[in-house]
Amino acid sequence: MIILRSIAETRKALDEWRRQGRSIALVPTMGYLHEGHLSLVDEAKKHADRVVVSIYVNPTQFGPNEDLDKYPRDFAHDEACCQARGVDAVFYPDNAVMYCPDHSCWVTEESLSQTMCGAARPGHFRGVTTVVLKLFNITQCNVAVFGRKDAQQALIIQRMVRDLNVPVSIIVAPLVRAPDGLAMSSRNKYLSSDERQRALSISAGLKQAAALFAGGERQAAALCELVSAGITKAGGNIDYVVVMDRDTLRPLTTIDRPAVLAVAAFFGKPRLIDNVFLD
Ligand code: PAF
Repeated sequence: MIILRSIAETRKALDEWRRQGRSIALVPTMGYLHEGHLSLVDEAKKHADRVVVSIYVNPTQFGPNEDLDKYPRDFAHDEACCQARGVDAVFYPDNAVMYCPDHSCWVTEESLSQTMCGAARPGHFRGVTTVVLKLFNITQCNVAVFGRKDAQQALIIQRMVRDLNVPVSIIVAPLVRAPDGLAMSSRNKYLSSDERQRALSISAGLKQAAALFAGGERQAAALCELVSAGITKAGGNIDYVVVMDRDTLRPLTTIDRPAVLAVAAFFGKPRLIDNVFLD
């Protein structure tokens, strides 16, 4: 496994693979890798000959009062995880490599990013789309794999690739849960054991709501109320609980098409997101 720190060495190594006729999959991450990320690596291997994991805590997707400085980092752990999982290269740039001091070009998606995390975290998706397009351009990957936990992010990246004709196939891999049901996230590290226990109300509520939907309930408000009540009872602070059309991310009143029931809630400081698809 090779560690690549600069754009020039990344281009050189990946060009060599391309010259040998190898296809390349990218798994973009912000590090502090867990089983959710590693499942993306497994998925990437199914779609390409070489797998590159990028590890970069992208400052432009954090708001001024968010957890950029506190975001967990542990490169030695990440390197060992990648090595053990058979990753071919890790792209691990620093800020000076990724952003010129007078960087002034941005990618903005103007429809799907208006709701949910986009409404709660202004500028977040502009930072995500910009850094992801940069990572695509740096690696010139054929395929890129994203997790479904960030369902809105995955949809926005798919829209960016479609609208800007970016020659990268986007794969969205299933959400991975811990055995107790909590969606895997690097931010889970910051939950106390009590907060973690109470945060299980998110996945438990989503599971109950999905069961209610499977039993025939089609009113979005009924599902949202069920989930919200559980989180509030557990002492969580709700950012949003919504049912959205899965293509447009517009709110649904009656669930008469593929939908996503999505949650963002704080338990203590960490802001957790989770979702289930309603088909
Ligand atoms: O999902 C993430 O970890 C980040 O938003 C991403 C896609 C790596 C861009 O910084």
